[in-house]
Amino acid sequence: MKRFSLAKPAAAIVAAMALIGTISFAVAQQPRGGERPQARLADLMQGAQVGHIKLWFAGKAGNWGLATYQTKQLKTRLEDAAALYQSLPVNDVTTMAKPLDAISAAIAAKDGRQFARAYDELTAGCNSCHQSVKLGFVAIRRPNANPFSDQEFGAGKK
Ligand code: HEC
Repeated sequence: MKRFSLAKPAAAIVAAMALIGTISFAVAQQPRGGERPQARLADLMQGAQVGHIKLWFAGKAGNWGLATYQTKQLKTRLEDAAALYQSLPVNDVTTMAKPLDAISAAIAAKDGRQFARAYDELTAGCNSCHQSVKLGFVAIRRPNANPFSDQEFGAGKK
């Protein structure tokens, strides 16, 4: 599978454009491989949702180690989604690079307010892609309750 890197947005755009030819705003999924591609994209997205929730509670608890881990996981999931599905609007994937970088910067600065701002930007990015693929009914927001009660989010806090 060709890698789609969020680390280098400019190069990623070029690579992805070369890869898919055109940017499509259709929701029809054109798989690059795999037996149940539709399910796999939905799985990646559900994983992204879990990561999005955990990232919030990690940041809120000041568990920057976990926040770093979740940010990397989110990045990888979005890269995988872009690599697997030709019809994902590439612009909407690459625009995620900026808030993800802003989150990393906030984590490095251990700055909760900066983190919250970057998190809201990231969330807006999730929604703007959903809107452009006509999935505006999948609306993401800041989580207000933590469903992962078996995980200690304050652990390893530095
Ligand atoms: C580049 C486009 C794009 C971005 C960015 C994106 N998504 Fe999605 N998302 C999709 C598509 C396409 C689907 C439909 C997948 C399917 O069912 O095949 C989807 C579906 C979903 C679903 C529906 C699955 C369900 O069980 O309800 C959730 C939740 C979701 N995304 C969460 C997120 C979160 C959280 C983010 C941001 C961290 C995000 N998405 C970013 C394109 C995107």
